[in-house]
Amino acid sequence: MNTQVPAPPTLPITEVNALEGRPHSTGLPEVDRVLSGGFVPGSVALLGGEPGVGKSTLLLQVLAACGGRALYVTAEESAQQVRLRAERLGALHPHISLLAETSLPRIRAAIAAHQPDLVVIDSIQAVADPDLASGPGSVTQVRGCAQQLVADAKQSNITTILVGHVTKEGTLAGPRVLEHLVDTVLSFDGDRHHALRMLRAVKHRFGTTHELGLFEMVGDGLRAVPDASQMFLADRRNGVPGSVVTPLLDGHRPLLVEVQALVTLSSLGSPRRSAQGFDQGRLALLLAVLEQRAGLLVAPCDVYASVVGGIRMGEPGGDLAVCVAVASALTGRSIPPGVVVCGEIGLAGELRQAGHTPRRLTEAARLGFSTAIVPRSAVVSVPQLEVIGVSTIAEALAALHIIDLVDPVEEPLVHSAAAH
Ligand code: TYD
Ligand code: MG
Repeated sequence: MNTQVPAPPTLPITEVNALEGRPHSTGLPEVDRVLSGGFVPGSVALLGGEPGVGKSTLLLQVLAACGGRALYVTAEESAQQVRLRAERLGALHPHISLLAETSLPRIRAAIAAHQPDLVVIDSIQAVADPDLASGPGSVTQVRGCAQQLVADAKQSNITTILVGHVTKEGTLAGPRVLEHLVDTVLSFDGDRHHALRMLRAVKHRFGTTHELGLFEMVGDGLRAVPDASQMFLADRRNGVPGSVVTPLLDGHRPLLVEVQALVTLSSLGSPRRSAQGFDQGRLALLLAVLEQRAGLLVAPCDVYASVVGGIRMGEPGGDLAVCVAVASALTGRSIPPGVVVCGEIGLAGELRQAGHTPRRLTEAARLGFSTAIVPRSAVVSVPQLEVIGVSTIAEALAALHIIDLVDPVEEPLVHSAAAH
């Protein structure tokens, strides 16, 4: 055993100060939601996102809202540019200091001298340590600089946020190599053609990673979207064939979105299939199920299906909505207003629970929907909502009067709203 090293003190777990690990609110509720309350002092977060998504904007707004002493290190833009942006955002506050610098030793010296509560490094890829041999932006540089900043953050208890650019392909000499170094990894993304932006925690040592923060990029920065469902449905037209609403779940957050489909007879040898906002392969699978299990002839048709509003449907709970939208478009029969559908579809055409059905249906009822078609096993009682349970895709389409079932296997299981 090495007796040369003095033994460091240990502490009974009960005597560790839990208050030190408490998050401090950022002043922006949508950000706090994702962080389970806010940033924990001395913690290090990495904010990753594609160039132009709004990372610098978001962080400037965080610094303005959080109220503490803040240092914004801009390694990409000039201090003037940052000031102009802050003016546009209404984030011009004397408690925010700026440093336009790319050299790591100088940045560390500034942090040590300034002693802010919160420091932002925008971006970590643009910072370089002259003592490291490789060039700026290389993995060695990015990792080496981040390591030193993380060590400083822990020692001085200064909350540190590193910005990292991520490209669409996920090929990044930056963020991925840092994920294990930091306490929190946030991802900020959104469709280029939409104003909607989504903030998620990919990793979070101080809370859950299930919460979704939603923002809209407007003229004066990012605006929180507390009622996303209402926003997604604002422009919806009732009574149009090929349109249906489904309650999706993103993390813990229920979102009502419209799924649309357009079906036309194809002039091509191999008809076109286009899925927007969800997986192309999933559309192909669901079309095959529709054809084989519900008897709808989609093979000769071009099929376009999309999730409206720039949201990505990353869960199978939207399967039924895709099938219903396609079937409705194909037959020209519209879905009655006030109906939502929700459920995963198996290859046999059976409907499966998508998880957290009550939370989804409560959101549908809140927005004034009156009827829900769900898998039979997921039927629950929700105030103000008639919940209809069906076993197969064919039964679901029959319940919506899109197809006529010759010999129904089972009657739908109805949990009527009148029962409440
Ligand atoms: P930015 O925060 O610079 O993105 P990132 O740091 O992730 O590269 O934001 C860039 C985009 O946001 C830019 O295309 C313009 C737009 N934007 C607005 O629409 N409104 C605003 O108030 C601001 C500041 C930016
Ligand atoms: Mg930026």
